[in-house]
Amino acid sequence: MLTISKDPEPNGRPIGSASRASFDDTLLLLDYAETAVPPLPKAIRRIQDHAHELNRYPRGLREEATRAFAQAHGLEADQVLLTSGVDEATDLVLLEAGMLTCVTPGFFGYWERAKALNIPTTRVQLNAAWQLPERWYEDASRESAFLVAQPNNPTGSRFDDATWLDQALDWFSIVVVDETYRLVADEPAESCTNRRADNLLTFVSLSKSYGLAGVRIGALIGRAELVARIAQRQRFHAVDSISLHAVIGALEDVDNVAAASEEVRRLRRLYVDVLKEARGLFTEVRTTDCTFVLGRVHDHLGVERLVTEMATHGVRVTDGSLLGLPGWIRVGIADASAIEHLLAVLRRCELALDATSHVGASQRR
Ligand SMILES: Cc1ncc(COP(=O)(O)O)c(C=O)c1O
Repeated sequence: MLTISKDPEPNGRPIGSASRASFDDTLLLLDYAETAVPPLPKAIRRIQDHAHELNRYPRGLREEATRAFAQAHGLEADQVLLTSGVDEATDLVLLEAGMLTCVTPGFFGYWERAKALNIPTTRVQLNAAWQLPERWYEDASRESAFLVAQPNNPTGSRFDDATWLDQALDWFSIVVVDETYRLVADEPAESCTNRRADNLLTFVSLSKSYGLAGVRIGALIGRAELVARIAQRQRFHAVDSISLHAVIGALEDVDNVAAASEEVRRLRRLYVDVLKEARGLFTEVRTTDCTFVLGRVHDHLGVERLVTEMATHGVRVTDGSLLGLPGWIRVGIADASAIEHLLAVLRRCELALDATSHVGASQRR
């Protein structure tokens, strides 16, 4: 996904989902909302099997991948537009509508793309419970596209009041419900892909549940007329052969998707526990329905100081203010082998920031 860490890339070996690492000579990259789930095996095999064809443009491949995707989701092929990740999907929608409405705290990718395209943006401020306020849509232009992730990044939660989607569909020219994190939620909601509305698009990402963030592929799903309209601006073979083979292979492996999502849920619980151990740093720790957990940093420490201190120990996390969530850090979930490393770094940060002195004696351990 997009880079949100402002500090330069320190030297070192990044440790990702499957790699183990010793404490001192490694980087632990928890600053993107990546998943510990490795790519589905059939996706890898399919890429390997077709690598010798990379001298050709992906003729016919896109159609094959689209059909496979549609079939796997119980859709018609003309309801599906494969895109080069959420960024291309966002661009196509924004260029069609000409204006963006989104929420804050929210996914920075939407407003960053709008900024890059010089598209006016309205950000609706969520309330203290991270929910939409009363009549939240009224200050936004009806012409705009409303893009929102459910579950939302960075709050990691969904909107409780189910009427928000009807309100959005009544108000906005296009509504995009981004279901990137749907399958990793503790209790996944029903997908919007089955809902019939002329101005509704659902974004399905393959980055998290299929472990395919690196190939940059996703899908916009909606009524055939809207999908065709959006597709008009897509550039020549926007999704490359490797990505298309990856999705075809992954779709043959869908049985493993449920297990991968379950693994994210298991790891999420462990990561929450680790943050809770660092009482000197956080006033509150929250689990989410996404591939990250959240910690609210003690005011007297400051998020920037903690993020910087963690980075000096090789652990990158995200300052929530980049996503409209000041006061919090977002910590991505890597695999279980990184947990000890993270805990050790949090302990070091407590000492370096003199955080333990603010913890009551009864809380120390
Ligand atoms: C809200 C949201 N949408 C989409 C994505 C991922 O999109 P892509 O499928 O392009 O990797 C992310 C990843 O961080 C996200 O947080």
